Amino acid sequence: MAALSTSDTVAVIGAGTMGAGIAQVAAKAGHPVLLFDAQHGAAQSGKDKTAKGLNRLVEKGKMSQPDVDDLLSRIQIVENLSDLAPAKLVIEAIVENLDIKQNVFAQLEDICSADTIMASNTSSISLTAIGAKLKRSNRLVGMHFFNPAPIMQLVEVISGLTTAKEVADCVYETSLSWGKKPVHAKSTPGFIVNRVARPFYAEALRVLEEGGADIATIDTALKDVGGFRMGPFELMDLIGLDVNYAVTLTTWGQFYNDPRFLPSLIQKELVDGGLLGRKSGRGFYEYGDNVPKAGP
Ligand code: NAI
Repeated sequence: MAALSTSDTVAVIGAGTMGAGIAQVAAKAGHPVLLFDAQHGAAQSGKDKTAKGLNRLVEKGKMSQPDVDDLLSRIQIVENLSDLAPAKLVIEAIVENLDIKQNVFAQLEDICSADTIMASNTSSISLTAIGAKLKRSNRLVGMHFFNPAPIMQLVEVISGLTTAKEVADCVYETSLSWGKKPVHAKSTPGFIVNRVARPFYAEALRVLEEGGADIATIDTALKDVGGFRMGPFELMDLIGLDVNYAVTLTTWGQFYNDPRFLPSLIQKELVDGGLLGRKSGRGFYEYGDNVPKAGP
């Protein structure tokens, strides 16, 4: 099936770390975008962050002011889920929780038209499970962007057992037309990247828990010497510790509590304390004025 046309409306639900960036990607491609967040003011603050990032590109001469204004004018903030009715593609980027995602998609089925594609940016939850409560689970697909969405090219297009091939193909072609590099994958625990990345985080956390080395040393070793673009702790702080922890919990559960995927107590403690990484100002590192300092 062909890609969406740029005149088709794209809706994004959730304007946090991922949703605001995904809205930017769709608007840059030329779509009218509707952005909704359940928390009052969150969609506006997501759009403000996008504007700030784009203004930096203008300062660096990488984008013109008229192009930025044009892009931002295509992102419309809406106050209610029911405002998403005109969307041909809805991309959900809300909290990583099966029940909450199922509930949002069930409401969307009654709001949007029968041919609307419902995509989830879930990092690890089974698409088959999200679709289990839907009347039209054939229209549900995973569209898994990576952080930061405007920069990272990979998009995992995830098919659950009931996802229609034409729906996955449309999302694949649409991602290509947005300048992304999509890959098809089936709904297995953690899909491709998050599955393979689990030991990267888990083993780094174990070295820390065993007192083998401190956070900065482990990051430096993997980054400066190991060739990774970011160390595991920097990356977890960027992703959000709540999100990373939720993905580990889901993957661990999906593998019947296989000890390989055992969640870390240090990470749980930080999550319980609301120390979620960059978005809260402190995680493994502290982010005064966005400059990382030594953490706990
Ligand atoms: P976040 O916590 O930064 O933002 C989530 C947003 O969703 C918040 O603004 C919240 O108010 C809103 N929200 C929560 N429940 C809602 C509801 N019922 N209706 C509407 N809005 C609601 O989370 P983040 O990091 O953007 O993650 C969102 C999704 O994207 C999750 O499924 C996560 O696993 C996935 N993801 C996250 C990545 C990351 O690096 N943070 C990377 C790729 C996927």
